[in-house]
Amino acid sequence: MKHLIPEFDAMRKRLPPDAASSLVLPCLRRIQEDRGYVADSDIAELAAYIPVPRVQIEEVLAHYTQYRRAPIGRHHLQVCHNLSCSMRGAEGLLGHLQRKLGIEAGATTADGRFTLTTVECLGSCGTAPVLMVGDRYHENMDAAKVDALLGELP
Ligand code: FES
Repeated sequence: MKHLIPEFDAMRKRLPPDAASSLVLPCLRRIQEDRGYVADSDIAELAAYIPVPRVQIEEVLAHYTQYRRAPIGRHHLQVCHNLSCSMRGAEGLLGHLQRKLGIEAGATTADGRFTLTTVECLGSCGTAPVLMVGDRYHENMDAAKVDALLGELP
C-alpha cells in the first residue's frame, strides 16, 4: 500500500483538515484496484495513515460488498438474487452458471478465470435479472446470453 501514499496525500489535500476519515472509502477503493482485494496489512497501514481506528475500516469493509477481502478470479461474476431478479429468473441463472463453471457461489474456478458470487440488489431492478461482470452490468439476462457473454471473455 505504501506506493499509493502519494495518491492518498493528493486526496487528503482536497479535504478540510478535520475530514480525514472521509479518506477511508476512496483509499480502500484504490487499494483494491491496485491489489485486487484489501489485505489485513492494508487495513493496519491505512488505519495508521489516516489515522482512524482499525474497527472503522473493518466496519466499512463489512458493510460494502464491493470491497473484497481475498483474491478473486480474473472475471468476477456477481448474480443479483434480490426480489426483482429472483422473480425474473435469477436462481435459474445462478444454477446455470454454477453448472457451466463447475463451482458453487462464493468459489473460484480452478484455473482462476472466474469467481462467482451472489449480491443483493444492484439497483437495476427494471432490467432484472442482472449479472455484473467486473464493473459492467449485463441486464435482462438468460442462459443463452450468459453463454454468449462467457464465450466473449478472455
Ligand atoms: S433486485 Fe436485482 S437489481 Fe434490484
